[in-house]
Amino acid sequence: MSLRQIHIFEAVARHRSYTRAAEELHLTQPAVFTQVKHLEDSVGFPLLERAGRQIQLTETGREVLATSREMLDAIGRLDMRLADMQGLKRGRLRVAMVTTAEYRVPRLLAEFCVRYPGIDALLTVTNREKLLARLADNEDDLVILGAPPKEVDVVATHIADNPLVVVARNDHPLAGKKAIPLARIVEESFILRESGSGTRLATETYFAKQGFSLKVRMELGSTEAIKQAIAGGLGVAVLSHHTLVLEGENGLLQPLDVKGFPLWRKWYVAYRRGKHLSAVAAAFIEHLLADHDCRKSLPNTLFPFP
Ligand code: PGA
Repeated sequence: MSLRQIHIFEAVARHRSYTRAAEELHLTQPAVFTQVKHLEDSVGFPLLERAGRQIQLTETGREVLATSREMLDAIGRLDMRLADMQGLKRGRLRVAMVTTAEYRVPRLLAEFCVRYPGIDALLTVTNREKLLARLADNEDDLVILGAPPKEVDVVATHIADNPLVVVARNDHPLAGKKAIPLARIVEESFILRESGSGTRLATETYFAKQGFSLKVRMELGSTEAIKQAIAGGLGVAVLSHHTLVLEGENGLLQPLDVKGFPLWRKWYVAYRRGKHLSAVAAAFIEHLLADHDCRKSLPNTLFPFP
């Protein structure tokens, strides 16, 4: 058994796909297939089996996967210790973040990488539900999310505020109106994020608590797609206010002054309690905290709420 085979097998098992594992590892699909076959030959039992179009782990496969993960984890920890010994000259940083943070965190990560050129960073952008699964599987050094999870014991640090606002097109009849009642806004058609999104969860929870349900016109799995749908006149949506910042004041969209909004959500950087935090990960947390006051960076004109 080689470490390389174990590494490849872990990726195939995680993705349940040879193709996606090959993409992740920058290998060809036949090369991935062959390495898994070699591993199966040395173990003496099949590790994966096909159930229709799906790949499933056999019982032996599950055993081998659990040990593979322990081994890869131990190697990762060794790697981090070695990197720690060298300070921040070399190292790896794996960060996963919820999509709303993509208007802010990639810039901070880029600055960090410019400052420490020897650090390889891998940033995964996904929704809250998928990020929590990654956290449970210990796939990242750090995660950035909208509220610390109840399911996993984490050390979470508040890094910035994330106000959620009702966004509409500039020429919407409610644009510019003050203190729009909830009973009025729920007459509008809403575009929602996919289920599993923290923004969606916060939105639905808020309206339900106030005794309202939303008229959902469409569900879209991307904030940018939702913005395009609003611009196309399909309806309104609750989005992070940060999603409007890049457009500035001349954008097509604006937040509506709806009673009870913004919903104050926060962003946290978190890691599982007990996890060894590498020097690189600790330095990145410091870097995020140095940029703490998110609200100040929002132009006032775009932020008409107290
Ligand atoms: P989302 O997360 O990208 O899943 O909507 C944002 C959040 O949890 O605040």
